Amino acid sequence: MTRSVRYSSNGDLDRLEIVDGTLLEVGPGQVKVDVRAAGLNPVDWKILSGGMGEVSGSAGIGADFSGVVAEVGEGVSDFKPGDLVFGGLPHRSIAEQLLIEDPENRLDLIPRGLGLDAAGGLYIAGRTAVAGIRAIAPQDGETVYVSGASGGVGIIAAQLAVNLGARVIGSASDANLGLLASLGIEPIAYGDGLAERLRAGAPEGIHAAFSTQGTEGIEELLALGVPAERIDSIGAGPQVADTHGVHIDGEAHARREDLAWLGKAIAYGHVHLPVARVFAFDEVQEAYRFLQTQHPAGKVVLRIAATPLSAAQRGHLNG
Ligand SMILES: NC(=O)c1ccc[n+]([C@@H]2O[C@H](COP(=O)([O-])OP(=O)(O)OC[C@H]3O[C@@H](n4cnc5c(N)ncnc54)[C@H](OP(=O)(O)O)[C@@H]3O)[C@@H](O)[C@H]2O)c1
Repeated sequence: MTRSVRYSSNGDLDRLEIVDGTLLEVGPGQVKVDVRAAGLNPVDWKILSGGMGEVSGSAGIGADFSGVVAEVGEGVSDFKPGDLVFGGLPHRSIAEQLLIEDPENRLDLIPRGLGLDAAGGLYIAGRTAVAGIRAIAPQDGETVYVSGASGGVGIIAAQLAVNLGARVIGSASDANLGLLASLGIEPIAYGDGLAERLRAGAPEGIHAAFSTQGTEGIEELLALGVPAERIDSIGAGPQVADTHGVHIDGEAHARREDLAWLGKAIAYGHVHLPVARVFAFDEVQEAYRFLQTQHPAGKVVLRIAATPLSAAQRGHLNG
């Protein structure tokens, strides 16, 4: 038997249940992965709640994962059993096993030095950050603002902008301001008076911004004089492209190669991705509640028990 997390009616996190299924059989061109870590994202509970359409039948949850190739089907030459892999399979990654039907589009080898937890939490947040920063193209010496810079997406986006030579101001709760400063991001507390603090902190103006906030946040940035064509919004819904003329480049705008590129940047130490907390597979509801309520810096990941790794696999992950 193999277990996965599923739900069959929209609602709160208590709809999630762990169900037993039969072991997956690998067909031609397919790869079976024993999942080791699965990252959680806010979009998961937006889908679960019904905010993005009603569920029909039984549905899975989660997109990000990392794991070990268990078996490959006829004709697969890019992967072999024992390979350490990561990727994304929307609406079903929180499971002990995954059957990847198009491994050439969904799987990458984990680069040496990138741990299973970080690799398993990278797909949505990482691809979104790369696509969004590409859209606003920070230049050397520019001032860039990143809202929610302690979150899964923002912490990557802010560091990418720093690496491009920008002066980056990032917002977070008080608890996470020190972490941002340690990463070369100028921290600023969100909440009442943010616009005044930004005006005081960047009297010469803000050239570009990456926003994880709603429409009000976009309007605040425009009022501060950030040009619409230099704002990327991932949190306000697609309508802001028409109503406010900003970019809405997010996960769907990422390129196939972005995830592997970012994985290497993290493994080589150019980008730091904190894993806020790791939960066990059985703790899936608690893990989502923690992500919803505790404002952790970085990613929240479920670790899924599987057969132990070999010494060579452990050595690869540890760099
Ligand atoms: N369009 C896309 O393709 C796409 C892809 C991924 C995510 N998203 C969306 O982007 C948003 C962020 O995702 P994520 O994965 O980074 O979430 P996350 O890990 O939960 O991070 C949320 C961030 O928002 C900050 N925050 C919390 N309350 C805030 C407030 N009142 N004002 C300003 N900032 C506040 C948090 O700071 P503290 O933790 O320090 O409190 C944290 O930095 C979510 O709405 C998500 O659905 C969109």
